[in-house]
Amino acid sequence: MPSGSYKVLSNERISNDNMWVMKVAGDFKPAAGQFFMLRAWDKYPVLSRPISVHDIGDGYIAFMYRVVGEGTEILSRLTKGDDITLAGPYGNGFPLDLKGKIALIGGGMGVAPLLWTAKQLNKPDVYLGFREEVLLEDEYKAAAGKLVTKIGGTILDDVDYDAYDYVFACGPLGMERALANMAKNHKAKVYISLEKHMACGMGACLVCSCSTTKGNKKVCKDGPVFLADEVIFDEL
Ligand SMILES: Cc1cc2nc3c(=O)[nH]c(=O)nc-3n(C[C@H](O)[C@H](O)[C@H](O)COP(=O)(O)OP(=O)(O)OC[C@H]3O[C@@H](n4cnc5c(N)ncnc54)[C@H](O)[C@@H]3O)c2cc1C
Ligand code: FES
Repeated sequence: MPSGSYKVLSNERISNDNMWVMKVAGDFKPAAGQFFMLRAWDKYPVLSRPISVHDIGDGYIAFMYRVVGEGTEILSRLTKGDDITLAGPYGNGFPLDLKGKIALIGGGMGVAPLLWTAKQLNKPDVYLGFREEVLLEDEYKAAAGKLVTKIGGTILDDVDYDAYDYVFACGPLGMERALANMAKNHKAKVYISLEKHMACGMGACLVCSCSTTKGNKKVCKDGPVFLADEVIFDEL
C-alpha cells in the first residue's frame, strides 16, 4: 500500500517499561526488517519517527515501540479510529534467500522487527533478551523453531555461533558491536540492523550516514541491515 493516512485499530501498552504495540488498518507487504516513518501530529515535532515492521496480519500492520520522547509519547496516546500517517516501507531488510541455518537475536527494543522476520523464514531459532519481563512469548514461539529468552544480562552468551550459517540481529549498538566481535572466529555470518537518527528516511538528506568498509552508506536506504563485518563501529 502506498504512503498515506491510515486508521489505528488498537494501541496497547504491553510492558512496565513502556513498550507498546499499535495495529494500523491496511494491506501492507513490507519485507522483513524494513521500517516506516510514522507521524501522528501536525507541525511539531518536525520529523516523522522511524519504526520497524513488527508484524503483518489480515488487514493490518503492527508496530512495537518504546516511549522514549515526544514522538513516541504522542503515538502512545492514539486510540482506535485515530489517523496516523505512514510513509514507507523503507530500507533494505534482512536477506531472506540465504541457504543454511539461521538464528535471530534481539535485544531490548531490537526484538521488534524479529517477529515478522521469523515469520518470513522457515522457523529460525530465535534468541531474545528483555530488560524486565519476557514479552509476547507465544507469538515468537509460534514463529520460531526454538525460542530462547533471557531477562537482564546478555542473550549473546546463549548462542552457539558455530551451530548457524547466519545470524540476523537487532539491538542496542553495544550489543551489535559485541556480537560482531564474538562471531568473528565462528562459522556464522552476522547481519545487523542499525539504528541512526533519521530525517527523510528515504536517502535524501544524509542525516543517517554510517561508515563501512565499502564507504559511507545511508542507514535508511542502504540499510538498516548491514553485514556486521562491513560496519566500522568506531565511526558510528
Ligand atoms: C530503522 C529504525 C527502526 C526503528 N525501529 C524501532 C522500533 O521498531 N521500535 C522502537 O521503539 N524504536 C525504533 N526505532 C527508534 C525510534 O525511531 C526512536 O526511538 C524514536 O524516533 C524516538 O522518537 P521520540 O520523539 O519519542 O524521542 P526523541 O525525543 O526523538 O528521542 C528520545 C531519545 O532517543 C534517542 N533516539 C531517538 N531516535 C533515535 C534513533 N533513531 N537511534 C538512536 N537513538 C535515538 C534520542 O537521542 C533521545 O535520547 C527505530 C529507529 C530506526 C532508525
Ligand atoms: S534519513 Fe535522510 S538520508 Fe537517511
